Amino acid sequence: MTDTEDRITAHYGVGNLYDRIMNALRASGVDPAALMPDHLKPVDEFHIGGAEATVALLDQLKIDPGTHVLDIGCGIGGTTRLLVSRYGADVTGIDLTPEYVRIAERLTDAAGLKASFIEGSALDLPFDDESFDLATLIHVGMNLPDKARLFREAGRVLKHGGTFAVYDVMRFGAHPVFPLPWASEPEVSFLGEPEEYLAAAEAAHFQLRARRDRREVAKDFFARMQARMAEEGPPALGLPILMGDAAPAKVANMIEAVNAGDIAPVEMIFDKR
Ligand SMILES: C[S@@+](CC[C@H](N)C(=O)[O-])C[C@H]1O[C@@H](n2cnc3c(N)ncnc32)[C@H](O)[C@@H]1O
Repeated sequence: MTDTEDRITAHYGVGNLYDRIMNALRASGVDPAALMPDHLKPVDEFHIGGAEATVALLDQLKIDPGTHVLDIGCGIGGTTRLLVSRYGADVTGIDLTPEYVRIAERLTDAAGLKASFIEGSALDLPFDDESFDLATLIHVGMNLPDKARLFREAGRVLKHGGTFAVYDVMRFGAHPVFPLPWASEPEVSFLGEPEEYLAAAEAAHFQLRARRDRREVAKDFFARMQARMAEEGPPALGLPILMGDAAPAKVANMIEAVNAGDIAPVEMIFDKR
């Protein structure tokens, strides 16, 4: 692992996560012995818009039980499990953070689903050429210093005609204030401008099929979240479990930067030529 990667895994690996998720499930009235994939949604989709945003991206694609999917930067496996439970796809998740990979495996077992999880880097994928039909990358590019290499690696492991579906936070203006959900300090944040993604994709022989800037959707999502919090207080089960003590500052800085127009989540769907 590079020094940057060590710092990134230290940022995400907050420790004792599995027990804290199980305790939060119980506190929110879910019996872990009867766990369903949907019960985990408040905590296992670590990106703006949560499961709603994942479904909005994936429903644009053709995914069925024969589709081999690689979920790059799978976190604790929320999108991976959704790909299995909603579409029946055959999914492998890969993530840099060892604790996340172990938890992804345990939660998938506990929810009665089948998927494979591997520890490794998006920038050096441990898979043969042309292994997958679809690759997903959801809120991971902000931790990847080399977008050209990311797209080369995704292009290498995708089959001819395969799809790369990206949903990342991108930069449109000033750099945001830290800490942020994906980085506690600037040295491990690599927010790319949309043009950087498009150039990297072009160089790796991808063709852009669809693009949606999701700033307004994100603002609406934050407004609903804040209204719910004001009324009901913080929920027992939620993303702050993954973000540690600095969660309120990380979320507030991100919302401020989105509202200021400096960053926004963007979907880009590419086909491998
Ligand atoms: C904000 S989380 C998003 C996780 C997941 N995609 C989701 O939406 O729930 C970012 C994830 O990217 C992973 N990550 C960061 N750098 C990576 C790399 N070089 N290779 C693979 N995963 C990486 C982190 O460990 C973390 O799980």
